[in-house]
Amino acid sequence: MSNRKQIKFGALIHGVGGNVSVWRHPEVPVDASVNFEFYKLQAQTAEAGKFDLVFIADGLYINEKSIPHFLNRFEPITILSALAAATSHIGLVGTLSSSYSEPFTVARQFGSLDQISSGRAGWNVVTSPLEGSAKNYGKAEHPSHDERYRIAEEFLQVAQGLWDSWEDDAFIRDKESGVFFDPDKLHTLNHKGAYFSVQGPLNIARSKQGQPVIFQAGSSESGKKLAGKVADAVFTGHENIKEAKQFYKEIKDNAIASGRSADDVVILPGIGPIIGATEEEAERKYEEIAGLVSIDSALNYLGRFFEHHDFSQYPLDEPFPDVGELGKNSFRSGTDKIKKQAKEQNLTLRQVALRSATPRGEFIGTPRKIADLIQQWNEEEAADGFIIHTPLPSGLKDFVEQVVPILQERGLYRTEYEADTLRGNLGIPFPANRYTTAKNTAAVNG
Ligand SMILES: Cc1cc2nc3c(=O)[nH]c(=O)nc-3n(C[C@H](O)[C@H](O)[C@H](O)COP(=O)(O)O)c2cc1C
Repeated sequence: MSNRKQIKFGALIHGVGGNVSVWRHPEVPVDASVNFEFYKLQAQTAEAGKFDLVFIADGLYINEKSIPHFLNRFEPITILSALAAATSHIGLVGTLSSSYSEPFTVARQFGSLDQISSGRAGWNVVTSPLEGSAKNYGKAEHPSHDERYRIAEEFLQVAQGLWDSWEDDAFIRDKESGVFFDPDKLHTLNHKGAYFSVQGPLNIARSKQGQPVIFQAGSSESGKKLAGKVADAVFTGHENIKEAKQFYKEIKDNAIASGRSADDVVILPGIGPIIGATEEEAERKYEEIAGLVSIDSALNYLGRFFEHHDFSQYPLDEPFPDVGELGKNSFRSGTDKIKKQAKEQNLTLRQVALRSATPRGEFIGTPRKIADLIQQWNEEEAADGFIIHTPLPSGLKDFVEQVVPILQERGLYRTEYEADTLRGNLGIPFPANRYTTAKNTAAVNG
């Protein structure tokens, strides 16, 4: 495709790591998940690399089998607000659940983050896969997978409606006349739906990017539909370029079917590059990380995706056990994929557990090899950009110092930020205030 947009990058900051045992690696600060200086350094490294955004994942239920990072970590809005003050251009994207929150609170929180950061906020809308979350929110049961997506859709409608409570020039703040705001530019939502009843208006105005950027991360059919309808960006995960291309096309087609343009949604697969001066060095680094994982911890890690199922009860070196529908109501797209691959590739339980705990993606090798793969995925329409989640913290620095310059030399990646808002840098549309638009349309037709 000619006139392609430049490649986008996000950095997932994951404290002591997204893996069960990487915290044991000599270079990982053992308190990284609750160490502000660590988060600040990683965010500033990503900003030095002109990344579009940092990304903070989250969850609402832990038990003794959860991975170390999940046991003791920062709440996303809080850490992102602190990072807003330590950075100037990079976007600040955080995960917040639509299944266990109230839209008025969430709209306020992200509205505030968007103002604090002058238009750099993004919300990763998740439906919360873990059944145990219900126990932390006084709910009798975890809503079904389909219902969680119905809730998410209405939740977003409400939040986006609330964000438009104030037109962009509503606040006059004239000390002389004593007029603080123009009442014609203040709007009450009066939403009454199946799940939420919210009057409004919201007590915070829009930022200079209009509204926070909406991320979506579910990959089931319901997740892909929601993404096509409303997401500005999609965070996803793929094993290979073929799978990524199919997903990319589906989301863009869904966006078009929802009356949007394919360019309105940016697709960002997560990748975990491991960079070495030579192929051998990169391979050694991978083996060092993989070697830290015990089979018991890998089984625990795998179990979490299947509602914390106890996989230690099965023989390790026999085919992956038949667990029936387990996982369908939690990480549906992820567990469907694990079951399918185990069957197709005839994998044992040990192989499945170790693969899940330390996935060996394609992106291992020299900086040039990684830059080549990134270019290929982008050119072949498998990705508009990537969420970088390096297993070790130094991996982000390696990426910024060694891969980014190659992509810049090739003219594929920015050398300076084009904008100072997240929307501006991602190249996605500014959402005009709906009430201003309606007035303008009425005036033209009128
Ligand atoms: C790449 C990716 C990242 C995700 N990040 C989070 C997260 O940070 N917190 C969370 O609760 N769920 C997260 N999810 C889970 C989804 O929100 C969703 O609940 C789960 O994947 C089940 O939905 P699905 O079957 O549509 O994928 C993530 C999913 C994917 C694919």
